[in-house]
Amino acid sequence: VLWFTGLSGSGKSTLAHALEEQLYKLGYQTDVLDGDNIRHGLCSDLGFSDTDRHENIRRIGETAKLMLKAGTIIMTAFISPFRKDRESVRNLMSHGDFIEVYCQADLETCEARDVKGFYKRARSGEIKNYTRIDSPYEEPEKPDFILDTQSVDVETATKKLCNYIEGCISKKGANI
Ligand code: ADX
Repeated sequence: VLWFTGLSGSGKSTLAHALEEQLYKLGYQTDVLDGDNIRHGLCSDLGFSDTDRHENIRRIGETAKLMLKAGTIIMTAFISPFRKDRESVRNLMSHGDFIEVYCQADLETCEARDVKGFYKRARSGEIKNYTRIDSPYEEPEKPDFILDTQSVDVETATKKLCNYIEGCISKKGANI
């Protein structure tokens, strides 16, 4: 499970989908869990309070675990702002099956991108509990992989990550 974490607008979804395409081309069974297929379905009853975010991540973690067991490499793209939640998901998986990928970009950059216009609405007070505006984001302390999405382009980042994943897969294969 490749667990992308980072602010809204940090590039999680873009990179998760780009990586999925690469891995799929290499013959792996892959899937992406992101806001589009999770927050409108499995988690449509949840909002953005801390409690709801904990539950969102818990459900996604359990889902990813089941999908992994079925032989699919899963990429997840959620802010997942709380360290404790990300660690809980890591602890659900066998050692080495959870790879935390930190999409690093500062608030200024993400806000300037503002792809969905949410930062503007959060700044005006129309949206409450927006991550890094009036809700926390706890940076990973020891992520397995850091992607600096401010300075690295999608193609380069995807290649780096893909090489890393293939290394992990071959190591895992050697242990079986
Ligand atoms: S998480 O905190 O529970 O991991 P998740 O990744 O599912 O969040 O959803 C974040 C996306 O929901 C953002 O990229 C943004 O498009 C949208 N969104 C709507 N309201 C909020 C909010 N209050 N805080 C953060 N994101 C929000």
